[in-house]
Amino acid sequence: MGIAAAAFSFFAVNSSLVAFVIHLDSQTPLREIWRRNMGWVALSYLLLSPIALLLARAYETPLLGNWGGWTVLLFLIPLYYSRFYWDEKVRLEQAFDTTLELLMNALEAKDPMTRLHSERVADIARDLARKVKDGDEAYAQAIYRAARLHDIGKIAIPEAVLLKPGSLTPEEFALIQSHTTKGAELLSPARKVAFDQLVYNVILHHHERWDGRGYPKRLAGHEIPEEARIVGLADAYEAMTAGRPYRKAKTPEEALREVQELSGHQFDPRLVEAFTELWAQNPIWRDREAYIAAKEGSLLRSTSPQRSSASALPSPSEPGPRTSEE
Ligand SMILES: [Fe+2]
Repeated sequence: MGIAAAAFSFFAVNSSLVAFVIHLDSQTPLREIWRRNMGWVALSYLLLSPIALLLARAYETPLLGNWGGWTVLLFLIPLYYSRFYWDEKVRLEQAFDTTLELLMNALEAKDPMTRLHSERVADIARDLARKVKDGDEAYAQAIYRAARLHDIGKIAIPEAVLLKPGSLTPEEFALIQSHTTKGAELLSPARKVAFDQLVYNVILHHHERWDGRGYPKRLAGHEIPEEARIVGLADAYEAMTAGRPYRKAKTPEEALREVQELSGHQFDPRLVEAFTELWAQNPIWRDREAYIAAKEGSLLRSTSPQRSSASALPSPSEPGPRTSEE
């Protein structure tokens, strides 16, 4: 009880002082700073407080010599190592994000519309993942990262085909379709090291269809990994509302209707249901223009989007007249 009270007092004083300094620096209301940055720390303070009890007991019962401090130092060694490995984990995640950005930059150099497309697909997919997995934030974040990379295989597609205005010949269409297998090949050396199976599945299977008429493996129903079904739906909705030189963009309402019509054909009916519910809540990604406007001034400013090119540049994300590379 005493230890919990001590942990609480330490947390209250420490977090208040830190929040106050942030408030002085940023003029953000104190309550907002505390809610955003400090709330979640409270639990970890409480959970870690037994370690303080353990250290206090260790100090009282010296194992080495007559001074309890040596025993405390002995206990601190594994604590230091767990902290060290935690830092390494964070560093690895940052390296992953940087690698992801580098890959996206490489693809963007070929197809300027890729970044906007992949960001919107990733935002839709993350919301969808969160909904179907009852708010599992780690899963939603993993889906977001995978969705950002879903078309990475287009790096290996010649620009003449990738950026070709108008419809494609069957050979060119097959070449475009190969971005799934090429993407999987491209990342295979990093598989299970930097990119886990989920990322690999999304890249390889995001054009499979629920009825088995997709590619590259013609998987059907639950054979298609859930992550690939989620990103596939998000990809199709984004493509429908994006427009192409040879096809007008659909309105959000028209695109939703098409998604619903394709439920059980192209898309997993359960995901279509979840998508419909999300769509009705008017998320930022629902309307493409609103999404671009919201992103401007933040992410898109730093990545030089070509807003007007949304309908001026072809993107082989959807070369055919239907939804997503059918
Ligand atoms: Fe794709």
